[in-house]
Amino acid sequence: MTPYLQASAVEVSFGGLRALNDCSFTIQQGHITCLVGPNGAGKTTIFNVITGFLKPNSGSVTFKGQPLDGWKPQAIVAAGIARTFQNLRLFVDLTAVDNVLASLPGQTGEEPLAAIFRPFHVAAAQRRRREEALAILDRVGLSARSGDFVRNLSYGEQKLLIIARVLATGAELLLLDEPASGLSSGALEDVMALLRSLRNDGKTLLVVEHNTRVVQKIADDVLFLHQGHLMAQGSPETIVNDPALAEIYFGGAI
Ligand SMILES: Nc1ncnc2c1ncn2[C@@H]1O[C@H](COP(=O)(O)OP(=O)(O)OP(=O)(O)O)[C@@H](O)[C@H]1O
Ligand SMILES: [Mg+2]
Repeated sequence: MTPYLQASAVEVSFGGLRALNDCSFTIQQGHITCLVGPNGAGKTTIFNVITGFLKPNSGSVTFKGQPLDGWKPQAIVAAGIARTFQNLRLFVDLTAVDNVLASLPGQTGEEPLAAIFRPFHVAAAQRRRREEALAILDRVGLSARSGDFVRNLSYGEQKLLIIARVLATGAELLLLDEPASGLSSGALEDVMALLRSLRNDGKTLLVVEHNTRVVQKIADDVLFLHQGHLMAQGSPETIVNDPALAEIYFGGAI
């Protein structure tokens, strides 16, 4: 069977530093796969490779059997893979709904004369896009905040808005870089419930996560990356309870 997403022998060097070293793994469609590993293990770097932000020195990534080599980030989003960034990257001076609108594909404005010659058509299209953006905000539990400026949202609400923005792309595979980091326990529960419900809706998720409690609650599979290499793969119980991995991760602190 063709793997859903497969990384094969991916190598990335920054000068003398090998950020990814013969990095290979597959992820399964319909699963939440958590990507764990110590700081600097290469987690964000493999996201950058998968999403076309970084060209590997060698190795390749295939999505549903198709190699993504040399594809631009936009083409990869169009193929169905969207990602969030470790830092928030929201437009803080725009409203929540406008942030989602900016991620919806097919922006109007590409035909500048349409607004003059077909004003009703353009207005209707904009209304539909706005309704779509509002529905996505509702999906992540932010409908009450749609008209609020992002700078006035709580940190937890901003983390939910980031997820709304990847949903707006329509992608089926979502790569989330630390979606739960820095959250208080209530906001953490909201994000975990949202991720599980997206999985139940048929999305596939690859999630970078440091909190082992979160990993145990949401993951179907876990990938453990160490020094740019896949060191272990398994169920959350197997990975979290492996003393050798805990030693690498926490220096024996648990
Ligand atoms: N653009 C870059 N230039 C030089 N070195 C880089 C660059 N990006 C990442 N690195 C280095 O590559 C290694 C892997 O970094 P990466 O950001 O992928 O780690 P990570 O697993 O995401 O860590 P964290 O858990 O801290 O987010 C690190 O040593 C990092 O310093
Ligand atoms: Mg990172």
